[in-house]
Amino acid sequence: MGKTIRIGIIGSGGIAGEHVKHYKKIEDVEIVGVADIMPGRAEQFIERWGLEGTVGFDDHRKLLELDLDGVSICTPNVAHYTTTKDALSAGKHVMLEKPMSVTLDEAIEMVQVSKQTGKMLNVGFQPRYDPNMGIIQQLIQNGELGKVYYVETGGGRRRGMPGGTFVRQEIAGAGAMADIGCYSLDLALNALGYPKPLTVSAYTSNYFGTNPKYHKEASAFDVEDFGVAIIRFEGDLVLNFKTAWAMHMDTLGATMFLGTDAGMKITPAGTGPWSGVWDGRVGSISLFHDIQGHHTESGIPLIQHQVNVFEEKIKDFVDAVREGKPAPIPGEQILRNQAILDGILRSSLAKKEVEIEIPEL
Ligand SMILES: NC(=O)c1ccc[n+]([C@@H]2O[C@H](COP(=O)([O-])OP(=O)(O)OC[C@H]3O[C@@H](n4cnc5c(N)ncnc54)[C@H](O)[C@@H]3O)[C@@H](O)[C@H]2O)c1
Repeated sequence: MGKTIRIGIIGSGGIAGEHVKHYKKIEDVEIVGVADIMPGRAEQFIERWGLEGTVGFDDHRKLLELDLDGVSICTPNVAHYTTTKDALSAGKHVMLEKPMSVTLDEAIEMVQVSKQTGKMLNVGFQPRYDPNMGIIQQLIQNGELGKVYYVETGGGRRRGMPGGTFVRQEIAGAGAMADIGCYSLDLALNALGYPKPLTVSAYTSNYFGTNPKYHKEASAFDVEDFGVAIIRFEGDLVLNFKTAWAMHMDTLGATMFLGTDAGMKITPAGTGPWSGVWDGRVGSISLFHDIQGHHTESGIPLIQHQVNVFEEKIKDFVDAVREGKPAPIPGEQILRNQAILDGILRSSLAKKEVEIEIPEL
């Protein structure tokens, strides 16, 4: 028996249930408390998940007074900033749901507090735990593609708009680009070693979400349901990033990396409107290269894994807490993902290219 790891949950909606489901599978983990801003909701959650002895709160600061090793932050996006800062300041390690925050300034401050307190800020991009994501990263980082100069990523649902807390700017902060787009960005940027973004030129719209024909909350819908951005990076690299929650099209195309020695195309496994590479379901990885002058396409064999990526993300966080290891997916790295999302919001509003400035922390 190891030391019992004491966990708190902040925000007890849909995704908090996934966190609890996997924490419960790990030996020596105790869910000590749950906080939700809606009175009574934490208690309902505790009952629903059969958490005996767990205490409910309607203010996360009360939860943070408990003796906890770590917290899972599962609030809507706009509350990530305050709850993360408060948790780190109270001496708890943080397992934060994606996207990291709404603005870059918030993300910078969150990383600063993590550094000041020495507590880990881990951002939960579970698709990284798909071993096929590892293959993509290895092929690029081992130089199989030569110098990568152009990347295309993102993806689209023909019709797959969420509702509730996801479609109102005052709660979600942003729409499709942040919600599912942040995964595609993580796929591409993590494979490339998280290069530093310099500028972004973006367009966003919400013609579907605001149309009652397509969305039942059309009158409240004020985030983007579609977006496209060209992002320039240090090292002569450009990324074409596009995402849709809804569109009159079957696909926005594959994820692709163009390199001086080879190109790589990645397609998602699923075929339904909600499926995408961003969910960690890689369907195929193909290399386009020349062999003796012949244009060749090689299929990279996939790992037919049975890994539950969400389970892996929770396990990895608990292991890092238990063993005092650094954050598996550090906020300091995801800052660059957030910087792009922040740039997209600014650029689409200004209708022109904007600079991205990330201070040394
Ligand atoms: N990793 C994934 O696969 C995945 C999937 C879905 C959602 N998410 C992310 O998880 C987060 C939550 O999504 P959800 O679907 O669970 O939303 P949700 O609306 O179902 O639940 C959010 C809960 O947080 C509570 N809340 C709001 N502000 C709070 C605060 N300041 N303190 C405490 N509680 C607060 C709400 O009352 C609600 O119960 C979002 O950031 C979303 O992007 C991640």
